[in-house]
Amino acid sequence: MKAVRFLPAIISAFSLLALSSNAQQKLPQLGKDRVSEIVKQMTLEEKASVIAGTGMRFGGNGPVIGEADGRVPGAAGNTMNVNRFGIPGTVLSDGPAGVRIDPVHKGDAKTYYATAWPVGTLLASSWDTSLVRSVGVAFGNEIREYGVDVILGPGMNIQRNPLNGRNFEYFSEDPIVSGYMAAAMVNGIQSNGVGTSIKHFAANNQETNRNAVNAIISERALREIYLRGFEIAVKRAQPYTVMSSYNKINGTYTSESSDLLTVILRNEWGFKGMVMTDWFGGKDAVAQMKAGNDLLEPGTPRQQKAIIDAVNSGTLDVKVLDQNVERVLNYILKTPAFRKYNFSSSPDLKAHAAISRKAAAEGMVLLKNDNAVLPLKKGAKLALFGNGSYKIITGGTGSGEVHVAYTVPTIDGLTADGYVINPGLQNKYQAAIKADLLAHPPKPLTLGPPRLIPEPEITADEISAAAAQSDLGVFTISRNAGEGADRKIDDFNLSDAEKTLLKAVADAFHAKGKKLVVVLNIGGAIEMASWNTGADAILLAWQPGLEGGNAIADVLSGVVNPSGKLATTFPAKYEDEPSAKSFPGTPAGHPTESVYNEGIYVGYRYFNSFGVKTAYPFGYGLSYTNFSYNNLKLSSPTFSKKLTATVTITNIGKTAGKEVVQLYLSAPHTGLDKPSEELKAFAKTGLLKPGESQTLILTLNPKDLASFNTDASAWIADAGKYEVKIGASSEDIKLAKWFTLAKTLTVEKVHKALAPQVAIDELKNK
Ligand code: BGC
Repeated sequence: MKAVRFLPAIISAFSLLALSSNAQQKLPQLGKDRVSEIVKQMTLEEKASVIAGTGMRFGGNGPVIGEADGRVPGAAGNTMNVNRFGIPGTVLSDGPAGVRIDPVHKGDAKTYYATAWPVGTLLASSWDTSLVRSVGVAFGNEIREYGVDVILGPGMNIQRNPLNGRNFEYFSEDPIVSGYMAAAMVNGIQSNGVGTSIKHFAANNQETNRNAVNAIISERALREIYLRGFEIAVKRAQPYTVMSSYNKINGTYTSESSDLLTVILRNEWGFKGMVMTDWFGGKDAVAQMKAGNDLLEPGTPRQQKAIIDAVNSGTLDVKVLDQNVERVLNYILKTPAFRKYNFSSSPDLKAHAAISRKAAAEGMVLLKNDNAVLPLKKGAKLALFGNGSYKIITGGTGSGEVHVAYTVPTIDGLTADGYVINPGLQNKYQAAIKADLLAHPPKPLTLGPPRLIPEPEITADEISAAAAQSDLGVFTISRNAGEGADRKIDDFNLSDAEKTLLKAVADAFHAKGKKLVVVLNIGGAIEMASWNTGADAILLAWQPGLEGGNAIADVLSGVVNPSGKLATTFPAKYEDEPSAKSFPGTPAGHPTESVYNEGIYVGYRYFNSFGVKTAYPFGYGLSYTNFSYNNLKLSSPTFSKKLTATVTITNIGKTAGKEVVQLYLSAPHTGLDKPSEELKAFAKTGLLKPGESQTLILTLNPKDLASFNTDASAWIADAGKYEVKIGASSEDIKLAKWFTLAKTLTVEKVHKALAPQVAIDELKNK
């Protein structure tokens, strides 16, 4: 009886259980079911939580970059999990020069230091896409092993003006170099199954009032200069994500611009990934959704509410939101978090340091080497001047800075190589640096101009003693900059104190028949024309990452023959820059508008076309050997579909070395105004032994011949004669040949997009 009475109750309890687990089972799961199916069953609140990141913690000293939910402490942001659909959260971390996470965690004996890679500007100066890819492969491994899903980089804005505080994070003044370098980095990183976020899309070329400044740019300059690199990177590498920038372009925030994010990025270029904002970028969350900016970072409750309200009131079509959510989910599907990757938290930092050192040496640029002062003689006695000789600047500040376990200063690299360092100067500099660091301990995050350690005063007696005791002087000039502020003209120019000391040291050494080598530990161009005659050799070491001092010693000693070349012009003086008059915009102090009236004449496009002398031109760099350029051949005297140029490079010196070869094109001036020449392709030889040759192949595609015709909204190649110029730099053309394009060619018709609302009085080359 009892049993019978209980049976129905037991049955119904079982069926309830079965029902609820059925209901659970019936919910579509990410990875098993169609993303659209999941989106269909999500509540509006869930959707709003997916398109906004998990937020950002604010500490006592302002925002704590990252630690949105502490999954990877110190990471910049996260995306939200929704467990009932099997959607995991993902981790986004800065930055372009290394994984920026907290190196020590409370109560955890383990450390999480990361590799500081050489900055983007140095990597680009290698002109070596396979080297950059190999850095990316190692970098991606570190990203994955520290539990990060997306690295917020590479940075790839155009170095429009040398004072931009974030230039060090970017590659070049030229979009072809920027695009190919970014693609190589993205391909390398993503080969690990982790994502990248190419940034800041687009025209974020200044830090001054970056959150609101309206960059007023012609459609042509946008297409040819400011968007072209991103286009190349998207087409060649399909980054998981793109980060929109803070600024406006022609009146609209980039994160709210459907012209930029939908018409151009997705419809024209075929971008398949997700777009995220820069941190707190833009104003209007609903407009961002409509524009195709899928993810709002770091994400705020206000943004979520605005989106929910907009759907409820009918001002945001839920179909638009669904598409944003789908893109976020499709991104999550590709991440280690989704694969439940069991990260080790122990990347091989030693192996990565070796790669960082190699890359650093490959991107340094030898600017001067009179009477073959370099490489240094073995065991030479060296007098090291400048704080930078004793404390290296590995990279810039802000979100691009990396927490490293150690850095190698130049003195340590040189000592390890057997050079003898002048002890008097060493003691003086090291004591001053130590005292300064005690008084001003480094902060975990600096926004705004970073503080440089003041140079100690070196007396005339100290200089002359050092000159008497040493075989050679090495003088390091240091500069640093970073997110949140542009550099000032005083930072571009050497200070009076620097010039005076440099001259005194040069004079003292020269008086004794000894030489002076200058090392530049800087992140962007500085003025050099007024003082470079005083130095016998100049090595541009850039900001070379944590192994910097070893890499500098590798080059100074000749273990590595320098093969880097400038991917950015060093103007003779700041005022020569075509953007100097308009940077960083008006009104002064707090510019709301920045008019790019130099148009397409950025960097060498300007200096070459207008015959303005530079200190060191784009593409320039010396080697410890010499190369001859021979046998330029074009695949055809007329262009149809594709044309290749072959050129044979021979090492005619006594040391093994590599040469960077650049292909510039001079297009006919029949239609549009054109620069006198533009870089269209580049290649680097392998390590050539003395006497050895290599034939390089450089390819031209139809778009390489074309300019952007605004009236036609099309890339058009004008009929006529084109000159292929093969150069060792933009000012050192070694060989040239003509080919003809028989008929004007519309290479690509695009949409009218991003048109300025005001007339721009643009510079013309006619
Ligand atoms: C920077 C980005 C960075 C982000 C997250 C912003 O301030 O502009 O480059 O990725 O912060 O830290």
